[in-house]
Amino acid sequence: MDLKSLIRDIPDFPKSGILFRDITTLLRDPQGLRYTIDLFTQKILDAGLKADYVIGMESRGFMFGTPLAYQLGAGFIPVRKPGKLPAAVHSIEYELEYGKDCLEVHQDALHPQSRVLIVDDLIATGGTAGATAKLVEKIGCELVGFGFIIELRDLQGRKNLPDVPIVSLVEY
Ligand code: PRP
Ligand code: ADE
Repeated sequence: MDLKSLIRDIPDFPKSGILFRDITTLLRDPQGLRYTIDLFTQKILDAGLKADYVIGMESRGFMFGTPLAYQLGAGFIPVRKPGKLPAAVHSIEYELEYGKDCLEVHQDALHPQSRVLIVDDLIATGGTAGATAKLVEKIGCELVGFGFIIELRDLQGRKNLPDVPIVSLVEY
């Protein structure tokens, strides 16, 4: 299946000059959604990545991270924008392709002995995934790798990530 044909390109969103890769068209396609989650699972397993938890970033990371965790028999941990999580949190600030933001995770969600896989729909500059990796490092648990549906190669987001395996399904 051609995943790129299910991803819609929207020029100048949310700002002039950004070519937005819209995954809502992929999510709404029943065969496309199943194929994507199955392929994602297979590629993570083929890469030998074994995780106790999948961590997904708000909001699009939830859409792929939760079904992936289900398939892997892992738990899912949400990393959220500020002020959304009800218990005590660790926080970190980061740069976006189009702005600045902050991410939080529950302090008691992870333990130093946990093996974690960080998952998002897309890596652009790597700011979001890199910040999440720093949160994981702060807690002291084992980061086994990263999984993305889409990788925007030109932005060289991999440079902002620690040296662990990175799986992506589609590159632009
Ligand atoms: C998007 C995307 C990634 C991030 C990638 O999220 O889902 O999380 O940007 O960009 P980066 O590699 O430059 O950090 P966004 O912050 O737009 O939030 P959303 O998922 O709620 O739409
Ligand atoms: N997040 C950061 N850059 C993006 C892009 N070009 N398309 C979709 N989501 C993004």
